[in-house]
Amino acid sequence: MTSLLSSERLDRTTILSLIDRARAFKNGAKASFPDKIVGLLFMENSSRTRVSFEMAAIRLGANPVFLGPEGSSIQKGETEADSARMLDCLRVDAIVVRTGTEGGPAEIASKVKAPVINAGEGKSDHPTQGLLDAMTLLDHFGSLDGKTVAICGDVERSRVASSNQHILKTLGAIVRLVGPGTEYKDLKTGLKDADAVMCLRVQKEREGASYDYAPYKIDHDSIKFANANAPVLHPLPMNRGVEISSELADDETRSLLWKQMENGLFIRMAVLERAFS
Ligand code: NCD
Repeated sequence: MTSLLSSERLDRTTILSLIDRARAFKNGAKASFPDKIVGLLFMENSSRTRVSFEMAAIRLGANPVFLGPEGSSIQKGETEADSARMLDCLRVDAIVVRTGTEGGPAEIASKVKAPVINAGEGKSDHPTQGLLDAMTLLDHFGSLDGKTVAICGDVERSRVASSNQHILKTLGAIVRLVGPGTEYKDLKTGLKDADAVMCLRVQKEREGASYDYAPYKIDHDSIKFANANAPVLHPLPMNRGVEISSELADDETRSLLWKQMENGLFIRMAVLERAFS
């Protein structure tokens, strides 16, 4: 019955135990929750987070039930908290929430009995993304103690940047935010001595100032500012040729993009199992 509301509230022990459990699932460990039902309340578009939560529930033997704006009472003006209460009244065993509203998952958690899992909250948080990125970086480096991770581009409007900042720092990494409005406005300076480079999608759909992100594009040339062989990450979906070059994204010697995607399934299995227990 444990919620996952924010990255900030995750301590090192919890992060590492979720990653350990995700690795066990990746290596074939099984768990069975045939009586559990997971409500997925997705107020914003999503491909991988939605499908990987659904898949995670199915892999755990549980059943997912999806509710989004399309075709539901949300289009009649029902609030997301009331929609969550509906799922709760129907006795779902966990509610996974993606919302554009900052504070939305916490508000829902205060109104329902089921544990609530934050699957992306406005510009502020995306804890399972932070966890899967941490798992991917730990798989790559072994330990994050003292490693410098540069998070680049549309930092101001990215919940991926804020989640990773908390989670990676908790694991001992030095996190640098590189982009307009940060202390590293210059890509070359921001990438100097970086052990890993994380690109962010330009968040065109969000409110807030939009800058020229072209100077922050990561490709085979600009990644040379970082340490030799530094891997590149991106939460996906990517704008190919905008924040990352297609060539670098598809270069398996440097790109961890699809490993991140794959780890997302196992992290979400671990998070759901924790919510059920
Ligand atoms: C991210 C999101 O929605 O926050 N996508 C995802 O969950 N993998 C990143 C993004 O859309 O930029």
